[in-house]
Amino acid sequence: MLGLTKIVLVACSVASVFGAVVVRDDDASANVTAKNPVFTVPTLVQIRDILAQLEAPIISALTERLNLPSNPALYANNGSALLKYIKPREATANNLGRYAYGKLEYPFTFNAVKPDVTSKSNPFPPGRFHQDSYSGNPSLLSFYLNTLVPLFNASTGYFYHLDGSQVNDDATLNLDATILALLSHRTSFGKIVAESKYAADVSGFTPLIKAINTSQIRTLLTNTTQEAGVLAQAATAATAFSTAWVASGAAEPATFPTQLGNVAAKVFRELIDTTTDIEVQYLLQRFN
Ligand SMILES: *[C@@H]1O[C@H](CO)[C@@H](O)[C@H](O)[C@H]1NC(C)=O
Ligand SMILES: *[C@@H]1O[C@H](CO)[C@@H](O)[C@H](O)[C@H]1NC(C)=O
Ligand SMILES: *[C@@H]1O[C@H](CO)[C@@H](O)[C@H](O)[C@H]1NC(C)=O
Ligand SMILES: *[C@@H]1O[C@H](CO)[C@@H](O)[C@H](O)[C@H]1NC(C)=O
Ligand SMILES: *[C@@H]1O[C@H](CO)[C@@H](O)[C@H](O)[C@H]1NC(C)=O
Repeated sequence: MLGLTKIVLVACSVASVFGAVVVRDDDASANVTAKNPVFTVPTLVQIRDILAQLEAPIISALTERLNLPSNPALYANNGSALLKYIKPREATANNLGRYAYGKLEYPFTFNAVKPDVTSKSNPFPPGRFHQDSYSGNPSLLSFYLNTLVPLFNASTGYFYHLDGSQVNDDATLNLDATILALLSHRTSFGKIVAESKYAADVSGFTPLIKAINTSQIRTLLTNTTQEAGVLAQAATAATAFSTAWVASGAAEPATFPTQLGNVAAKVFRELIDTTTDIEVQYLLQRFN
């Protein structure tokens, strides 16, 4: 724990946009890395295998959500009812350590990003996770409200409430909160993807980071072959889910397989794009 006399609070320019406060030692020689645990990142191949395992839970939750008629009022005013629902859950999650350093979990209703601060005499070696201040969640929330919610337009529920009820706000909001958390966790892997790519090409990335050459960093991070593979896997998984759901005897509309495929394609495109943004932002703060 830090002694109070050794702490100054500095709201840096990037973090203050999100209302964050950076805790920084006023003694420039302090070893700031010692405050957080040391996490080395897995290899890119391992990370991609983990990401592939996160695909089924996302498509499963999207399938359920697509089968649920919902009340549009929940999403009015930039999703204020949805955020009001999520807020106490995230407060509980926070108390239980869900957003702690290295968990790759970030909340939607408050800012939990306390970036690491390094110095020239105390840099983070390549391959060590380094917390930055960027969260992809505002972008994911906007995508959810503006792109996905209009596609969740079921007129009949397949949620099988025994009382025959069609619209159930808690069931809907619970799925919304689950999907948002899954998407956030999936995109946050961009931070360790970026660290892994950086460690594999330190001399390629370092001058670009120092020159803040965002477009060239993005180019160097992007692998369109890998992206096409992720989108193809998502399409295959969506077909498997809709086929299984229809085979189970659900009285789905004929458009259901197409709709699920469309939703999955949009979600995984967004995941790739937001993950890339997170990778770029992470690297830009690599030497902060
Ligand atoms: C800073 O902390 C790290 C992690 O505990 C340690 O490995 C390193 O030796 C420390 N460096 C200095 C200069 O004290
Ligand atoms: C929704 O958010 C946008 C962007 O922050 C803002 O311009 C707009 O006024 C908000 N709309 C409502 C209804 O709050
Ligand atoms: C729901 O949206 C899809 C497009 O994703 C459209 O094909 C379908 O007709 C819409 N269904 C209803 C009930 O509006
Ligand atoms: C970024 O790097 C590319 C490739 O080296 C170079 O062509 C471009 O001029 C650079 N852009 C900036 C803004 O430095
Ligand atoms: C791009 O991704 C593909 C598929 O994962 C991989 O085989 C290839 O080596 C990657 N290319 C680069 C330049 O890393």
